[in-house]
Amino acid sequence: MPNIVEEIIFSFTNNKSLYIEERLTMSEHMIQTAMQAEKNKCSGDLICSSLLHDYGHFVLEDPNQLVGNHIDGNHEAIGVNYLKKYFSNEIIEPILLHVAAKKYLVRDNKYFNDLSEASKTSLKLQGGIMSDIEAEKFETNKTYENAIKLRRFDEGAKNLNIKIKKIEDYKELLLSKVI
Ligand SMILES: [Fe+2]
Repeated sequence: MPNIVEEIIFSFTNNKSLYIEERLTMSEHMIQTAMQAEKNKCSGDLICSSLLHDYGHFVLEDPNQLVGNHIDGNHEAIGVNYLKKYFSNEIIEPILLHVAAKKYLVRDNKYFNDLSEASKTSLKLQGGIMSDIEAEKFETNKTYENAIKLRRFDEGAKNLNIKIKKIEDYKELLLSKVI
């Protein structure tokens, strides 16, 4: 098995850090995000992006600590830097853009109001709402629609009462996507 797949499975299994202020672990949150992509019959690439979208938090230290210290950990860029050697652009780009997608989507008031308090706090650290010019530029990214889908799955992946799959259930998919 390629080392990166072993490493991913190891991190998901052993990293117990909690998802920012929520009562889920990071691993549970990312697996739920992938489950949402599956439920919505997305491509294997987007399921993979969803599964790995916060992987930067495993590369970084405790995410709670970062927000507590008012530092944006840039987790999307950290994750992408780490993963880009192993996965295609179709998988990597939505991960890179998922924070920008949030800044894009909060231009809609309802979307903003529905964000959790933690997500509103991190939004400030991430630079706040996009301007119209920034939004237009964002729409020129080839994978921006997938980034928006990923963002919506991300927001919906905070459920405390569902049966969560195991990282091993994604082993075959990960193996098929490693380049
Ligand atoms: Fe997330």
